[in-house]
Amino acid sequence: MSSRTKMLTRRAMLAAGTAGLLGVRAKAVVSDASLRVRAAKRGMLYGTCAGSYQLRDGEFADVLAYEANAMVPEYELKRDTLEPRPGVFDFSGADALTDFAHAHGMKMRGHTLVWYAANPPWLEAAVTAAKNEAVFADYIASVMGRYRGRIASWDVVNEAVWPQDGRSDGLRDCCWLRRFGPGYIDSAFDAARRADPSAQLVYNDWGCEGAERWNDDFRKHTLKLLEGMKKRGVPVDAYGMQGHFRAYRPGGTLDASKLKAFLAEIRALGYRLVVSELDVDDDGGPADAKVRDAKVADITARFLAPVMESGICDAILTWGLTDRYLRGKIIPQDMWISLPRKLPLDASLRRKDMWWALAKAFR
Ligand code: G3I
Repeated sequence: MSSRTKMLTRRAMLAAGTAGLLGVRAKAVVSDASLRVRAAKRGMLYGTCAGSYQLRDGEFADVLAYEANAMVPEYELKRDTLEPRPGVFDFSGADALTDFAHAHGMKMRGHTLVWYAANPPWLEAAVTAAKNEAVFADYIASVMGRYRGRIASWDVVNEAVWPQDGRSDGLRDCCWLRRFGPGYIDSAFDAARRADPSAQLVYNDWGCEGAERWNDDFRKHTLKLLEGMKKRGVPVDAYGMQGHFRAYRPGGTLDASKLKAFLAEIRALGYRLVVSELDVDDDGGPADAKVRDAKVADITARFLAPVMESGICDAILTWGLTDRYLRGKIIPQDMWISLPRKLPLDASLRRKDMWWALAKAFR
């Protein structure tokens, strides 16, 4: 380990340790071991999304290296950032994040190769006019090829299910489906397997965690999609369950018993599980942050119980580590009081109830 890394880790341990000691949260968890140490003891990964701009925030970078052994770019491996103009690539952000991850013994996730969103303005017309699947297969080959052996797990296709579009197969009406039909999903995974045979290939989505009727529909269509791919021998290794919740607003509920049954089906189909984007939005909650923090932690704990019981979960990533960033910017300290509190560490990098809920889940 380089001396800088040792220094970072020592500083990070001090920062997190002090925070832990000052955290005055006398919980059943007895040690101050980091989430990455706790996850590793279960043969798992704990991580977070990040933006390369955050690595310039030294105290954050220290705690990131201390707490996480997995990382995924929040937006810098999406096509709007990677290929702003046809054939013109900017890998600078993804390279910085991947280099940081490897310097600190972290596994890197890639997010995402084929999605209906975060595409550059020129892409939709190119897809519509495409003569063949090269418009995504060649992209997958070049991006995954660049990170072959350095990005361990990829969200190959993101959010392809959307029953609200009314199709009998529950798939989302997007440019990829309109041009290539449902087969674009199989083809994307075939291209990904060819590009990096060592990578874990993940179908990433949300909508299967909740208690509402539309969630029942989502679970039904997601299972149909995954079962069909398994029957056709499509190389998909894991289901990526995003895990975005809302503590006080509609649309982000949790139904732990339906989730448990869904995960049993995922396991029966032979898939692994990645919790890919966990956060619990406290918007609309009471003024008292302590009450909101406790509610966020309760939902986190009730979600992670069936996840851990499933026995198929390789990694739990939160969609951010600290509340101090919002939409790609570090928020000035005098505004921290108004920020959402949906992540494990507060804006001062202190461990919140949600951190302890994650720690307990790994116990
Ligand atoms: O950093 C640039 C900045 O330099 C530029 O000036 C600004 C204006 O163009 O854009 C900034 O980048 C933005 C980036 O977030 C960082 O804030 C992008 O425009 C913006 O599109 C991007 O939004 C991301 C969004 O996905 C779309 O890619 C969010 O950060 C990210 O949290 C969100 O994450 C999604 C997952 O990928 C899929 N699941 C849902 C999840 C939450 O919506």
